[in-house]
Amino acid sequence: YCYCPPLPKDFPELKNDTFLRAARGEEVEHVPVWCMRQAGRYLPEFRESRAGKDFFETCRSPEACCELTLQPLRRFPFDASIIFSDILVVPQALGMDVQMSPGKGPVFPEPLKEPDDLQRLRPKVDVDAELGYVFKAITLTRHKLEGKVPLIGFTGAPWTLMSYMIEGGGSTTHSKAKRWLYRHPEASHKLLRQLTDVIVEYLLGQVKAGAQALQVFESHTGCLGPAEFKEFSLPYLRDIARRVKDKLKDSGLDNVPMIVFAKDGHYGLEELSQSHYEVVGLDWTVDPRSARERTGGRVSLQGNMDPCALYATKERISEIVKTMVEGFGTRGYIANLGHGVYPDMDPESVGAFVEAVHTHSRQLLNRN
Ligand code: CP3
Repeated sequence: YCYCPPLPKDFPELKNDTFLRAARGEEVEHVPVWCMRQAGRYLPEFRESRAGKDFFETCRSPEACCELTLQPLRRFPFDASIIFSDILVVPQALGMDVQMSPGKGPVFPEPLKEPDDLQRLRPKVDVDAELGYVFKAITLTRHKLEGKVPLIGFTGAPWTLMSYMIEGGGSTTHSKAKRWLYRHPEASHKLLRQLTDVIVEYLLGQVKAGAQALQVFESHTGCLGPAEFKEFSLPYLRDIARRVKDKLKDSGLDNVPMIVFAKDGHYGLEELSQSHYEVVGLDWTVDPRSARERTGGRVSLQGNMDPCALYATKERISEIVKTMVEGFGTRGYIANLGHGVYPDMDPESVGAFVEAVHTHSRQLLNRN
């Protein structure tokens, strides 16, 4: 046990609330922008900090997480920060071994194979004990941000985490995990419920620690069809948002905007916009105007430039951003990429993206 006193929670005053206002659908002076994986290997200073260090050891160091979270903000005028961590810390909290193999990605040496393997998971997870290092990183980072921009906390969604726990790593077909959905539906629901319970406590702990918004990553929506999505993903996504909001209220804490990012889940857009999230994140396969129509003004939208557009020239990036911002409109909109920045991308292109969002949205807003 560590008896060191928790960091005081009287955080510096927030100077740029554009991201939070856009999430709530309020008026803004420019469209806010941040990037998934804005802290990442495309930054030389990130590679230097991470050099020779184990990935999950880095995740367990609040000081390292804080430094990596702040790095992109020293370069670019992002309107939000996202805590450096990983979605796979939750399977670790449930008792699974997860390693990050350089060049290969995450590896579970002993993935779940059959429903009996669920017995290997901790039946009750003490979230503070297992994931307190993330909470410490959030509190420290919130202080070190000095109110510059809001800090986003995040989690993986139950289906995405379940698929990693069964596949044992990355997969194109996700067929081992999908086999469970078709052959072991009850065990699948049991696992999804167990993950949901931990995720709710985890998100709550992040807000208590200082997170000002939350994003739920359902990265593996694309391998599901609409029916499987409705049975195995959507109910848990809804449950997470409802329970987190109820519990925040019960604890006397302010509501925080929640973002659901179901990658490649275009078929579920209508349902996602009615799932208690303030913001729906989009990948680049969805047309901005059609996303607006299908979500009917019920939510703010986030996204969705193809990350590969960052390989274009600065001028072309600016044109693409202009079309994107015009498509979404400036109200209830948070600009982002449709997925994370890739390691081989030029930091200057990320800077050009951020600048283009600010410039074009200011022009549009001044015209109105
Ligand atoms: O967005 C951010 O800047 C915040 C930090 C963040 C990371 N991972 C850091 C990270 C977030 C939000 C994640 C989420 C995450 N992790 C997801 C959901 C988002 C998505 O991409 O769909 C997933 C599926 C993971 C699992 C994971 N972790 C993968 C597939 C990898 C890549 C492995 C590789 O070698 O490229 C990771 C590792 C990881 N997580 C890195 C970073 C910056 C790169 C590895 C490193 O720094 O050594």
